Amino acid sequence: MGQYVGAIDQGTTSSRFVVVDAEGSFVSMASKEHAQVLPRPGWVEHRPDEILANTISVVTEALDTAGISASDLAGVGITNQRETTVIWDRRTGEAVANAIVWQDTRTAELAKVLASTYGADTFRVKTGLPPATYFAGPKVRWLLDEYPDLNRRASDGELAFGTIDSWLAWHLTGRHVTDVTNASRTMLMDLESLSWDDELVDALGVPKAMLPEIVPSIGVIGPCTGVLEGTRLTTILGDQHAALVGQAAFDVGDTKVTYGTGAFLLSNTGTDIVHSESGLLSTVAYQVAGESARYALEGSVAVAGSAVQWLRDNIGIIDSAEQIEAIASTVPDNGDVYFVPAFSGLFAPHWRDDARGVLVGLTRYSNKGHIARAVLEATAFQTKDLLDAMVADTGRELPELRVDGGMVANKLLMRFQADILGLDVVVPSVAQTTVLGAAFGAGIAAGVWSNTDEVSHRWREAARYRPSMEGGERDRLMSGWSKAIDRSLNWIES
Ligand SMILES: Nc1ncnc2c1ncn2[C@@H]1O[C@H](COP(=O)(O)OP(=O)(O)OP(=O)(O)O)[C@@H](O)[C@H]1O
Ligand SMILES: [Mg+2]
Repeated sequence: MGQYVGAIDQGTTSSRFVVVDAEGSFVSMASKEHAQVLPRPGWVEHRPDEILANTISVVTEALDTAGISASDLAGVGITNQRETTVIWDRRTGEAVANAIVWQDTRTAELAKVLASTYGADTFRVKTGLPPATYFAGPKVRWLLDEYPDLNRRASDGELAFGTIDSWLAWHLTGRHVTDVTNASRTMLMDLESLSWDDELVDALGVPKAMLPEIVPSIGVIGPCTGVLEGTRLTTILGDQHAALVGQAAFDVGDTKVTYGTGAFLLSNTGTDIVHSESGLLSTVAYQVAGESARYALEGSVAVAGSAVQWLRDNIGIIDSAEQIEAIASTVPDNGDVYFVPAFSGLFAPHWRDDARGVLVGLTRYSNKGHIARAVLEATAFQTKDLLDAMVADTGRELPELRVDGGMVANKLLMRFQADILGLDVVVPSVAQTTVLGAAFGAGIAAGVWSNTDEVSHRWREAARYRPSMEGGERDRLMSGWSKAIDRSLNWIES
């Protein structure tokens, strides 16, 4: 067995593969974007075969760059965009339709029917999730209803359901599995027993024959074939859970925010499942094989970095994501302009699928600097709402906040985030914590590192942003933000 570790990060916008050495340093990395298929407002799809092909191609490229072969990898981890749903034919391995992406809102009516028929608490108590378009269960149901014959074929055992981790694991190992973190986002798994719940499976009408086997996140899953022949799959973690591991947030109360396509705050609650009174989700943080699962409270924001991409691709006032900082810096403040990026409704803490995006407070004085600034500030305001919910639920103030993901490169945003939270915001030396976390998991399971303590020592602080805003100014801004949120609600009428 080799002395390196590999990690696949199959994200919402791109797929990456990294090779990591026994010190935890990146040796090589390759990445590739895939198409966002947007057939109608509110619908978002990916092509599963494109995702698989890109994954295989980045694995090949990064192994080549490192000058090693798959057998030099002691183990490989998968981390993935969560909730995105695929159904495939077990015989051919081909997907029966495009994947329905986590941001897709086509299941809004179904989510409402589930809540009114079974009561939102039925789902919340068992799964830690409210019925919402976000989760995988309603997406499977939608596919089964939409395409003729799928129900029968699923019941006959011809079809397999899985989130992206399962789709990749099936093609890389031949096993039909998912890990506890990904399974905890389906609305079908009991958080306590870590198994599919018969009552919920019935409520959603998902044939049991199509469900994957649930396995621990960090533990040997099996030998790989094809491009990874010669090594083993030793970890599966949802992307936000992997980022928690990559931030070495192993102790109760350890909290991180990852700013990527969306923004996700996770706070480790140890072996306790904490149920939120404030609109947060309860979720599995990770599970090491042979140990109890660790849980987390999560605040999920659907749109963060993707609003910057929207400004670039749909509106065109910037050519690249980095440019937003320079344009936002042409003005001293937001000029009273607020932007609520409720493109997919609002997730935590509001859970309103009737909300849509609004840009408010415009006057003849407003310019593109104010709009760029409002787009960046929206991410910080949404994170502040999550943190307030977290403090309300746990009764614990945070000493500081660990952050990571693509948007932490934006200094203006990070300074504003520290100001609006009134907290130190801390960036680690590796901002790519998602893929690092999958590599940490894979290395622990493969015996490269003996346990989570050993990888904790590899975490290093790279930058710290200290708040300098007056409390009065913070309150004034938050009051503007909360009015803007009100304006975004009740837009879609059912
Ligand atoms: N300098 C920047 N300022 C603001 N936003 C940025 C900047 N650089 C990147 N971004 C945003 O960060 C996001 C990319 O970050 P990252 O790669 O962590 O995302 P991700 O969610 O992990 O991607 P994926 O969806 O593929 O997993 C993009 O949405 C991009 O618009
Ligand atoms: Mg990602």
